[in-house]
Order: sequence, then C-alpha cells, then structure tokens
Amino acid sequence: MSDTLAAIVLCAGKGTRMKSETAKVLHPVLGQPLAAWPVARALELGCAPVVAVVGYQGPEVQAALERRFPGAPLRFATQARQDGTADAVRTGLTALADVSGPLLVLYGDTPLLQTRTLESLVAAFRAARGSLGLLTTEVGDPTGYGRILRVSGRLTGVVEERDCTADQRNIHEVNAGVYVFDAAFLRKGLAALTPSNAQGELYLTDLVALAAREGEVASVRAHFEDTRGVNDRADLAACARVLRDRVNAAHMLAGVTLLDPETTYIEAEVAIGADALVEPGASLRGCTRVGTGVTVGQGAVLMDSEVGDGTRILPYSVMTEAKVGRHCVIGPFARLRPGSELGEGVEVGNFAETKKVQIGDGTKAHHHCYLGDATIGARVNVGAGTITCNYDGFQKHRTEIGDGVFIGSDSQLVAPVTVGEGSYIGAGTTVTDDVPSDTLVFARAPRVDKPGWPSRRRGKSRG
Ligand code: UD1
Ligand code: CA
Repeated sequence: MSDTLAAIVLCAGKGTRMKSETAKVLHPVLGQPLAAWPVARALELGCAPVVAVVGYQGPEVQAALERRFPGAPLRFATQARQDGTADAVRTGLTALADVSGPLLVLYGDTPLLQTRTLESLVAAFRAARGSLGLLTTEVGDPTGYGRILRVSGRLTGVVEERDCTADQRNIHEVNAGVYVFDAAFLRKGLAALTPSNAQGELYLTDLVALAAREGEVASVRAHFEDTRGVNDRADLAACARVLRDRVNAAHMLAGVTLLDPETTYIEAEVAIGADALVEPGASLRGCTRVGTGVTVGQGAVLMDSEVGDGTRILPYSVMTEAKVGRHCVIGPFARLRPGSELGEGVEVGNFAETKKVQIGDGTKAHHHCYLGDATIGARVNVGAGTITCNYDGFQKHRTEIGDGVFIGSDSQLVAPVTVGEGSYIGAGTTVTDDVPSDTLVFARAPRVDKPGWPSRRRGKSRG
C-alpha cells in the first residue's frame, strides 16, 4: 500500500437548495469559497494530488481554487452532467489514472472538517485492511443525511433520506460524506453501479454495501460540529459561526485581545500580532496583516490591508488595500482607499480620505481632507479641508509635496503641481502653479470692510 494519499473533492453540484445563481461551493465562508475549506484540509493532510471535480460554474470554481492555493498539487476534472456523487468520483478518477492505494474522497460542502479527524479515519482504514473507511456522526435531526445501517454493530450500508423506510428515518447515525477508498476497489465498484434509487442518480453511498460484503468497512465517529454539510443558507450561517469562533479562539490563544469575540469578524487568512486589541464590531478581512500592539477600534473595517506595530486604528475607519506604518493614528472615521501608503508616526484623522498616495513619516492630516494621486513628504502639516484636485474631468494628475511643508486650512492643490520643501501655503489658497522651496504663498481677494452695513440692511427689510 502506498503511503501518499491522493484526494478527490466533489465540487460540481449547483446546490439547488441554496436558491442562488452562484454555485454553492463558491459561496464565501469567512472570506473563502466554501470548497476551499475541504481542499485546504486535504492539502494539510499531505494529499497529492488533490483533484477537484467541477461542473456547475466549473471555470469559476477552478479559478477560485487556483487563486486560493497557488502552487499546490491541485488537478481539475470536469463532470459534464451532475449525475450524482458516484458519477462525480468516476470523473475525478480520470485525472488519477496513475494512482493506486488509498484515496480520500471529500465533498466540497463540508467546511468544518478538521485535519486530525481525517488522520484518524486514514489510520482506521489502514488498520482494518478493508476497501473502505468512512466518517459517521450522530445528529439530533438527521434530515437530509444518508443513514448508517448496522447489523450487530457491523456497518453494512448507507441509505439516502429519499430511499429510507420509516424505521430507517429514525436512525441518528449519519454519513458525513468523508471516505477513504482503496483505489482498485473504487474503480471496480463504480463500473458496477447502476442507478437504483428515488433520484435516478449514481450514489457513491451505494458502494458502502458492496465494500461491506467484501470485508470490514472501517468507521470513525466524529462530532457533528466537524462534519456538518452546507445544503442551504441556514447551514452556511451555522458553519460560518463555528469557523468564526475557531478563528477567534486561535487569535486569543496567540495573544490577541478581542473585547467582544461574538461581534468580531476575522476572516481565515488574516494575521494579527500579539498584544493587539480588537474592539467590538471590527472586521478584519481578506489578507489583512496587523502588527503587534495594534488597536483596531470599534466598527473599523480592514480589507487586504497592512498595519504596522503599535498603530491605533480608531473607531469606524475603513481601509482597503492600504499600508500603514508603525505608530500611526488613523481615524476615527478615516477612509484609506487602495494604494494609500503611510510611513511611520503618520496621523490621518476624522473624515480624511486618501487614495494612491505616499505619505512620509510624521506627517499629519487631522481633519476633513482628500489626498489622492499624490506624494507627500515627511513632517508635512495638512490643514483641515485640504484637497488635492487630481481630476480635470478627463485625466488624473499628481501632486508632489516636499518635506516639512505647511498647508493652511481650506487649500486646494490643482494637479499637476509641486510644492517645494519647507514652503508655507496660506489658508484658503488655490495653488495652480508649482511652489518653489522655502516660500510662503497665499492667494486671497483683498478684504473689503463696510461698517454699519448689516444694520442698514436689516432696517431696510423691516421697513
Ligand atoms: C451526501 C451523501 C449523504 C451524506 C451527505 C453528507 C450521497 C448520495 N449522499 O448527500 O449520504 O449524508 O452528503 O453531507 O453521496 N456533487 C458533485 N456532482 C454531482 C452531485 C454532487 O460534484 O453530480 C457534489 C456537490 O457539489 C457537493 C457534494 O457532491 O459538494 C455532495 O452533494 P450533495 O448533493 O450536497 O449531497 P447530499 O444530498 O448532501
Ligand atoms: Ca451536502
């Protein structure tokens, strides 16, 4: 018997019970397509190759898995018509002509599986020396699952819900949809299968009785929480909750404080340094990386962003594809859009919006501003209401601001424009031409004073 295990993961079904235009296995759970979860477990177990059987929206499913597992030993096989789980496995085998020995088969809709459970099933299969091992679980409401048939404790078959007798419906031990097959038995068994059920489909589960006639079917009983399948959106939410709790628990054990884990949403690929503090209602998504000692404030949303050590993200700030250096203060209510790159000790405050901008160390933009398509030096003071006017109605243009510049409140920088090092821009200035270094510029209309004008005006309107 060979030591390496190949795997087949069935991902071809539409998932009718989801009532969705999107294939079931593409629905995201904690930021990952549903199918990525069992595929990740198979890869973690060391399976190679792992064949994903795709069908409904096959190209999209394949692309999603390739994106998620670059460089992994993944293969794909396309099931032209979704004629049942046995037909799907048969399709998967076409990509495994070179494989003999044990073969792991998983369903793409079981995201809660844990690698250690798969390991114990493989061990039980090897110990029993039969042609099949499968995972079972005990469930209060077995509706929708295949029931496990036993005679004096010996596993003899699986009967699908639709084909159950009234007595069989009351069986609470169900098929988790996780199998280890001997590849030679599987090939032979699949060739012999005929549709003999209520659905007219080829059921993989019909092979269980066949294996039981030939030898012992090994079985391992797992917790329902590890084996629950997703058939509808209620299952999807229930599984997402379990996975969220697992991910949150792992971060807490690694030294992250979650003030309210119940309301904290952290996707699977997010990394958080020790001594970080995450406040209620925060969302950390995609491939976000947060350093040590960072505070993520209440209601903050971080998508595919990087935050350096010791930085404080104050409440209700939103970051997308942004990079923030160490010891910065962001928000509250700041919006960092894609391409925002902030150095160390930068402070970007309330109602500030940034996009495609490099901001140097120690620069402060505390209130109400738009900084886009710009390079801003170190130790710049950006006054309240400053706007880089980057768009002329046709094209975007860049603004360059040197180190140590002071920009007075309510200034506009009409790009393309450059402000030299150390210059001052007086409040309320519209800068349309380059400013040399070490220069004060301001542009204001001369002030007109008319003493008594308001009283006269009011008197007139009363009269
Ligand atoms: C299946 C099992 C059932 C088990 C349950 C566990 C069968 C016949 N039944 O039922 O015993 O208790 O899972 O969750 O196997 N798929 C394909 N091609 C197809 C049909 C399905 O790739 O032609 C894929 C689906 O995308 C899905 C998986 O196989 O990821 C399981 O199919 P599904 O229809 O959800 O099976 P269940 O009815 O849940
Ligand atoms: Ca299912």
